[in-house]
Amino acid sequence: MTAVRARVRACRLADTYSHTRFHLALRTKTQPSTYHRLLLFRVNNVYDSNKSESDTPDAKEATEKEAPCPTLATVQNPGSDKPELYCMEETCPHLGAPLSHAEIEIDDIEDTRAVGELEDEFHRADLPVCPWHQYDFATGLKTCTYNVEVIGKGDDAEVWVDAPHNDGGHEWEVVEFRGVSEEFADPPIPSLKDLNLGDGPIPSTVPGQPQLELPSELPTSLLGFAHLVLATADPDLKCILTKEGVQRMRAGKLKSIRPTKGEIKRIRETVGLLDEPPRFATIVPLNKRGKLGRGGTEKSRIKMLHALANIEQYAIDLAWDIIARFAEFEIEGERLPVEYFLDWAKVAEDEAKHFSLLNKRLREMGSYFGSQTVHAGLWKSAMETADSLLSRIAIIHLVAEARGVDMNPLTLAKLRLAKDEESAAVLEVIHADEITHVTTGHRWFSWICAKQGLNPVQQFRDEVSSHFHGDLKGPFNVEDRAKAVSDIARLMGERQDERKHSR
Ligand SMILES: [Fe+2]
Ligand SMILES: [Fe+2]
Repeated sequence: MTAVRARVRACRLADTYSHTRFHLALRTKTQPSTYHRLLLFRVNNVYDSNKSESDTPDAKEATEKEAPCPTLATVQNPGSDKPELYCMEETCPHLGAPLSHAEIEIDDIEDTRAVGELEDEFHRADLPVCPWHQYDFATGLKTCTYNVEVIGKGDDAEVWVDAPHNDGGHEWEVVEFRGVSEEFADPPIPSLKDLNLGDGPIPSTVPGQPQLELPSELPTSLLGFAHLVLATADPDLKCILTKEGVQRMRAGKLKSIRPTKGEIKRIRETVGLLDEPPRFATIVPLNKRGKLGRGGTEKSRIKMLHALANIEQYAIDLAWDIIARFAEFEIEGERLPVEYFLDWAKVAEDEAKHFSLLNKRLREMGSYFGSQTVHAGLWKSAMETADSLLSRIAIIHLVAEARGVDMNPLTLAKLRLAKDEESAAVLEVIHADEITHVTTGHRWFSWICAKQGLNPVQQFRDEVSSHFHGDLKGPFNVEDRAKAVSDIARLMGERQDERKHSR
């Protein structure tokens, strides 16, 4: 008897026309939830066929805009009127490199994963190649790839992928399907080499602030970059150094990603952990910040975007802080795996991208980050959870970040009402990333609970009761919270209900 492979519905076929690569997050339907991340690559041939029902001007325009290299639009597959789709693990199994950043190369490969009726055993295709060590996945490692099938026709066509290998018989569901924008693949942050550091001190982009100073030698480890970024006051330089550290990590140019105990000890003794990261903005208590307004005027929107940029700047620091502060965390002698450090470095890069997008927008509006006062509420919460990784993840990444997911649609609506589409576009990019940050928090919260034999739901409630002082007010973005996590996503609403009942 032949074993039937479990499959998961990934998306509608039409959903794959907007980008060339997609994040696909799967979750088991049974508890405790297990997550698995895949990448779906689309090899474009659909626009070559006049017969295609999906050859719409919008779709074509979107593809031309998003195609990361010109070759994607020219791949031919005359035997099919459907795009070829490939599915594979999201991270390289050798070094943990994120394959959403993979180079796409054209080559002749054996057809094992293509969709469509192919006449030849070999055909031309785009291959994802690991950005860290140039490993060609389509030909090299079949265990990392998944069968993709398109079922149905026209508007009803759906994309299905095999369930994760070694899935233990679980039933899976898709909780996130997100195109990888080229801005995502290449965040709009200037590079260190753009600064021309050899030419002498660089003026800060923040008016009235001192010139940029860098150490004579940049760190050679992820932990070193974490401490350097945390100690950097200039917000643009903070983003540049974040990008530099993460790019060096991906290029295999860092000596260590997960630090050794010796390195942690050395850096704690020399640099130390910061009580508070320096700022090029005036910090005031939250209640002294003044009202942000409803976004009806440009002045009000500048205040709103400035407030968001402040949150993003602290979010950069918090991603590096969870790397630096908890680097030596261990459970019964087992240290945090390298994936922990990779995940949070990715979050740091996202947050630097968010800050850069917001600051760019502020400049377009004639302002800049540092023009308004800021508050340090997020950092204060982080310091109250500095002694416990579980508390830190619960309060910062499962409460505060999820709160951002709740609030973004409301802010977006205000921006759209004011017809400020440029600012709305920035917030949309940010919102999609923030959902994944809650997922990252949930992943490591669940990992620690599983290792310690704790019930994650009860533990989360305990952490919130002990360390969260505010009142959790709705509305809750139930749909996007559910994309991020399952069990914990519901809790904020439930807890509010409990409070009401106990009053
Ligand atoms: Fe962010
Ligand atoms: Fe975030």
